[in-house]
Amino acid sequence: MRIELTVNGVAREADDVWEGESLLYALRERLGLPGSKNACEQGECGSCTVYLDGAPVCACLVAAGQAQGREVTTVEGLAGDGLDPVQQAFVEKGAVQCGFCTPGFLMSTKDLLDRDPAPSDPEIREALAGNLCRCTGYEKILDAVRTAAANR
Ligand code: FES
Ligand code: FES
Repeated sequence: MRIELTVNGVAREADDVWEGESLLYALRERLGLPGSKNACEQGECGSCTVYLDGAPVCACLVAAGQAQGREVTTVEGLAGDGLDPVQQAFVEKGAVQCGFCTPGFLMSTKDLLDRDPAPSDPEIREALAGNLCRCTGYEKILDAVRTAAANR
């Protein structure tokens, strides 16, 4: 089937989409947007987090067909002329090691700060509970979120 959707503000379409195909697969393999990562494909790790009509979802759990006519924002859509403050804070604080989890953390952090510009540490931990990182030990990620909140 063909799907038509808006991705990062641009009208896109993809052909030959299989009924069971995930939005994550369509974004990465059909639309040339490999920023969202496939780590578990089971909704457990958050590395595939994108916004669907403004709400964060695990793109591995959303069927591509469900995005028909809807708006998707991926990590590629975060930066404008320069890095988004959240991206800048992750760089500044060294909150990236292998980087596989990073796109998901960026999307979840931006969503948190859009809802709550000054979250407490427990609120940050709760908001990021669905994002797993195997490298950083999370402290630098927490630092980055605090810095992003302060800089925005
Ligand atoms: S790849 Fe989607 S949650 Fe892990
Ligand atoms: S930086 Fe490697 S999984 Fe998070």
